[in-house]
Amino acid sequence: LNGAAKSGKTRDIVEKMDETSKNCVIFYGSQTGTAEDYASRLAKEGSQRFGLKTMVADIEDYDYENLDKFPDDKVAFFVLATYGEGEPTDNAVEFYQFFTGEDVAFESGASADDKPLSSLKYVTFGLGNNTYEHYNAMVRQVDTALTKLGAQRIGTAGEGDDGAGTMEEDFLAWKEPMWAALSDAMNLQEREAVYEAVFSVVEDDEKSPEEESVYLGEPTASHREGRAKGPFSAHNPYIAPIVESSELFTVKDRNCLHMEISIAGSNLSYQTGDHIAIWPTNAGAEVDRFLQVFGIEEKRHSVINVKGIDVTAKVPIPTPTTYDAAARYYMEVCAPVSRQFVSTLAAFAPDEESKSEIIRLGNDKDYFHEKITNQCFTIAQALQSITSKPFTAVPFSLLIEGLNKLQPRYYSISSSSLVQKDKISITAVVESVRLPGASHIVKGVTTNYLLALKQKQNGDSSPDPHGLTYSIKGPRNKYDGIHVPVHVRHSNFKLPSDPSKPIIMVGPGTGVAPFRGFIQERAALAAKGEKVGTTLLFFGCRKSNEDFIYKDEFKTFQDQMGDSLKIITAFSREGSEKVYVQHRLKENAELVSELLKQKANFYVCGDAANMAREVNLVLGHIIAQQRGLPAEKGEEMVKHMRSSGSYQEDVWS
Ligand code: 2AM
Repeated sequence: LNGAAKSGKTRDIVEKMDETSKNCVIFYGSQTGTAEDYASRLAKEGSQRFGLKTMVADIEDYDYENLDKFPDDKVAFFVLATYGEGEPTDNAVEFYQFFTGEDVAFESGASADDKPLSSLKYVTFGLGNNTYEHYNAMVRQVDTALTKLGAQRIGTAGEGDDGAGTMEEDFLAWKEPMWAALSDAMNLQEREAVYEAVFSVVEDDEKSPEEESVYLGEPTASHREGRAKGPFSAHNPYIAPIVESSELFTVKDRNCLHMEISIAGSNLSYQTGDHIAIWPTNAGAEVDRFLQVFGIEEKRHSVINVKGIDVTAKVPIPTPTTYDAAARYYMEVCAPVSRQFVSTLAAFAPDEESKSEIIRLGNDKDYFHEKITNQCFTIAQALQSITSKPFTAVPFSLLIEGLNKLQPRYYSISSSSLVQKDKISITAVVESVRLPGASHIVKGVTTNYLLALKQKQNGDSSPDPHGLTYSIKGPRNKYDGIHVPVHVRHSNFKLPSDPSKPIIMVGPGTGVAPFRGFIQERAALAAKGEKVGTTLLFFGCRKSNEDFIYKDEFKTFQDQMGDSLKIITAFSREGSEKVYVQHRLKENAELVSELLKQKANFYVCGDAANMAREVNLVLGHIIAQQRGLPAEKGEEMVKHMRSSGSYQEDVWS
């Protein structure tokens, strides 16, 4: 054994599986944690139902040069998300390049013609979003590449669609026939699933939660020790002060926040058009509910040590911590719960009646949809809707396994780095939505967190109406409630480097965020006397006197930029018919077409599912109609604009 292997750090997956007696590895390529979560679920199911010796692996942690040595009595799963415009997730870039590049360079020297992977059995599932182009491109390309190299796929190459909101059901429908095919191929016997904890969670009554070694929400050890140092990144957020916050508008159930976050002295930098990641905290009321439902409210501040029972299990939350801190800062307790996760709790139900209800929910897709999904229930709300008795028998390990770790949320930065390089603006609508037919209000985790921070920052001491209590009773971390952990993610959503080039921007609602940054930047350049090209913004909101954000600021920019700034508005709720940005785009077809001829960049920001798609279509029509071309030609030209970078999207679903 070499040193690396001894310390358990080998990058050789064949060796690793040998050493740890595994016969099934589940690689994941994950950006936001969903693919990782599905990988863990497959690993558990494989071991509990089929007796496979499974391990989960970050695809970045291993080499692929010797996959041609993968033994034929084992299996490798690839659970791969597609990111952005058909790209691999950050952790899967090397893997992707290795297999889809020109020549696959195996250590053994085998060439592609030798079918070097003929001993590799594999299973794949892809996570994608149909509202984007290049749907599930990652898994499709990897599947093609592996097959070409002689590997044998077991079952179909699964594809889940986040765009249609059917990811979970796509996954469930795919995995049953896959397990059947894998059982045939590997001669597995299905058995009654018995729960086996992945983690040991041990309470340490000796230790006080005030001790320095205990994590109370800090993202890393250096934060906990109070000496966090840069470089700050997705693995090491900067605890940033909020220096200003205000509400751009407030109407019933909707608040729009504007915040200024200081990155002065942090060495963080950003460029206009980048994203800022906010590391949220769960709402106090939801943390309380979660702890109550599982009967751990009384001992919420007990210190717990979490360890993997198997050496290959990675503990997803910092440890030692407390139940309270785990639920508040580290676990996604507010996410809509999945059908499979609910069914794993049947064995731990407090009585027979709730057990059979959980089994029914687990087996009946439509019933689950009606009772749980439609209500957008979290795990705790779902269980509360079944019985008022606490589920005290549920092992905490099962909750760590079944819930995602709390992920940072990304916002389009709404300021210009040229104008304010040390201060990042964000613009966010705080959602509290009552879904049709639902009995309660659903709140966005991060936006409500930001609202509570804003109230705190402004010294508002009235009881927090959003249930996010700051005066957490008991021990707490070192932030004072007006700091927020952040990092910056660079994007390709960028102004042309030559400011005299025209730009067209389409951004209804908070989709205007990055464009406020774009305009701020161009106004500053104009004020300095630089030549600035036509800057055309299509903005839409409900009513001109209700949610027209940055209206006054735009007036100031107009003074600085004169005629080069044009803002065209679409107010959807002022007349008898809806008027949307794409309608205005059509009305201004001539102007749009003229600017495109002058090589304008075209930008869209906001809702991916409807708005961005409709804008895309309308633009195709405009080009075709204005240039007297057939409709398909217009579409093609938009496609071409996309691939050449002159049509850029920053969209979310
Ligand atoms: P609505 O809510 O009145 O339908 C910002 O949210 C603005 O975007 C609102 O005026 C909203 O209108 C509008 N909007 C909703 N759906 C849209 C779509 N498919 N395309 C463009 N704008 C849309």
